[in-house]
Amino acid sequence: MNYPALFVNFKTYRKGTGEKAAELAQVCENVSRETNESVVPVVQTADLYRVSRVVDVPFYGQRIDPVGYGSNTGKVLPEALVQNGASGVVINHSEDRRSKDVIRKCLERAEKQDLESMVCAKDPEEAGKISGFGPDMVAIEPPELIGGDVSVSDAKPELITEAVEKVNQPLICGAGIKKREDVEKALDLGADGIFVASGIVKSEDPEERIRKMVSSF
Ligand code: G3P
Repeated sequence: MNYPALFVNFKTYRKGTGEKAAELAQVCENVSRETNESVVPVVQTADLYRVSRVVDVPFYGQRIDPVGYGSNTGKVLPEALVQNGASGVVINHSEDRRSKDVIRKCLERAEKQDLESMVCAKDPEEAGKISGFGPDMVAIEPPELIGGDVSVSDAKPELITEAVEKVNQPLICGAGIKKREDVEKALDLGADGIFVASGIVKSEDPEERIRKMVSSF
């Protein structure tokens, strides 16, 4: 992974699902190739294979479960992410919170599969604890700002600076990031990457948004 990096979370947005997921992943790839910056699609499990057919840049899954091959109906097998082309995974997103025990087990499974891991935290304290579990990256996102119009860099800059102090891995930050200035501020505060969803996926012109955001890298 090259830092700074931009992670684009497709969530379960209509514009990030099925055929639209494939199109949006291609947009991420185009900008990534043109600018030589890391723009990483984070796609639903159900869309991993579809995305793997159309892009050649790294992309992540949104979840794994700490299970192996066997009787685990409905669970997301880490091996399946790899076999469907993902190079990494997000664990413990605010919208998919896991217990500390499950986070640790997911990290063990991810490591065995050579899946890069980004574990999310809601505040600097949790970020510090999670850092101790040894993920590849820690992401900090204040839940109350997710999906809104006020960015973490504007509303809670101290969260980023405190997390930078507590985390030993690259720190990614997100929530409410919409503009180039939000990205610039976050990087100035010490973040190594940005995690964005609505500001890109729901926008009228995702390509333009991505281009603007990475222009401050
Ligand atoms: O995973 C990133 C996400 O939670 C941030 O969402 O819509 O505030 O960019 P958004």
